[in-house]
Amino acid sequence: MRPRSLVVVANRLPVDDSQPDGACEWRRSPGGLVGALHPLLRREPATWVGWAGGTGPAPTLPDVDGVRMVGVPLSEEDVRDHYEGFANATLWPLYHDAVEQPVHHRRWWEAYRRVNQRFADVVAETADPDAVVWVQDYHLQLVPALLRERRPDVRIGFFLHVPFPPPELFMQLPRRSELLAGMLGADLVGFQRAQAAHNFAQLATRLLDLTASDEQIQVGDRTVRVGAFPVSIDMAEMATLADRPDVLTRARRWRGDLGDPRHVVLSVDRMDYIKGIEQRLKAYSELLADGRLKVHDTALVQVAVPSRERVAQYQVLRDRVEREVGRINGEFGRVGEPAVHYLTQPFDRAGLAALYRVADVLAVTPLRDGMNLVAKEYVAARVDDGGALLLSEFAGAAAEFTDAFQVNPHDLDGLKRTLLAALQASPTELRRRMRSMRDHLREHDIRAWARSYLTALDETGGLADRLT
Ligand code: UDP
Ligand code: G6P
Repeated sequence: MRPRSLVVVANRLPVDDSQPDGACEWRRSPGGLVGALHPLLRREPATWVGWAGGTGPAPTLPDVDGVRMVGVPLSEEDVRDHYEGFANATLWPLYHDAVEQPVHHRRWWEAYRRVNQRFADVVAETADPDAVVWVQDYHLQLVPALLRERRPDVRIGFFLHVPFPPPELFMQLPRRSELLAGMLGADLVGFQRAQAAHNFAQLATRLLDLTASDEQIQVGDRTVRVGAFPVSIDMAEMATLADRPDVLTRARRWRGDLGDPRHVVLSVDRMDYIKGIEQRLKAYSELLADGRLKVHDTALVQVAVPSRERVAQYQVLRDRVEREVGRINGEFGRVGEPAVHYLTQPFDRAGLAALYRVADVLAVTPLRDGMNLVAKEYVAARVDDGGALLLSEFAGAAAEFTDAFQVNPHDLDGLKRTLLAALQASPTELRRRMRSMRDHLREHDIRAWARSYLTALDETGGLADRLT
């Protein structure tokens, strides 16, 4: 049998075609999806189908790192109603426990269906016979079923990078049954956590009257497999980077630039309301006001990379965060010593590695997050077994990093207490925690993720062996 080829389908193409010489580069930041898949696709010729970011006809793109890039054309209206509307103003807030109110518009649903159909059509025309097609994330939940109609020969996987909500929340969606049926077009539906697989199976029974367990769902004569496959990172790549002499030099220089404080606290987020940035700033500012933290002693570095800037909730958030940073700096900063070092520029891999080496505490305190790869990158970067991870119970990573300093980010007093505990822990305690998290990550890195998912999807085809 000919080896099956791989087609990845994701809303975004991971390319930057805006280089001055017209060249095309791999773009992996910010956002976890591309970062997770990038290390895998360097080993095996693959195709990536996605949106190149503009509107109008899809650009013709050269292969990047051996990956064939196929653009899906989107109009201005498609982007507004599918990406900014249904995907990021209806599904995103709803799937993240409705920490912001989900918005419903019938027009957005129409665009969601239309754009999913267009993706399915492009894949149907692109995939080799018997290919493995791996559909990613909440923007494309209808693609599995739409693709199956046109290409019953291909093996279809779907993976959701974000949380899948409990039935009470999912039931609010006006087109809930169609969304579920779309996902059930796949042969394997993967989630970050076992609870999500459970929620999905319950909904399949309740809404579609299907026979379902947390492992499989019967859809006519097909068995759809369901499971949890917590996504991860390329640990070795980050560890190597974080030990490179130029990265260490940069880390030392930045510590000096920060005024050589006793403690550096770092947060790295996309500017998103799920990330708990405001709650964290509030806790920090109360610690400064209480006198339990002092600006000349402790530096807080907040990287907040702007995201989805045309969506109203994101604009409101950015304004609020910037007002709060201004207030904290005005109230507690000193000449040459801001209380919050606030940066909105994205950092490249080496820059992030240097920041991770500077940070005594990485504070990752989302209100809800599918996984949070920043937390895993920090653990990978701490080849010295140093540093402390302050981690929200509501990040997917919390199920794996039980030795992190875990917090409920809604509990401001708990957040303050746990941050202080992380800052004051003994080096022996920190080393014990970090070693245990590093041991876990070594066993569960990106290759283990891809191996377990692709083996479940393509049991006999050998794709997992070729990619990992
Ligand atoms: N990231 C980056 N540069 C930045 C900020 C973030 O490359 O300045 C990357 C980060 O390394 C991580 C990803 O963006 O791989 C964020 O993934 P995560 O799972 O933490 O959150 P998401 O953005 O997917 O919600
Ligand atoms: C999260 C989502 C991804 C998304 C990324 C960046 O990681 O799970 O699907 O690509 O955020 O968001 P953006 O809207 O810029 O694609």
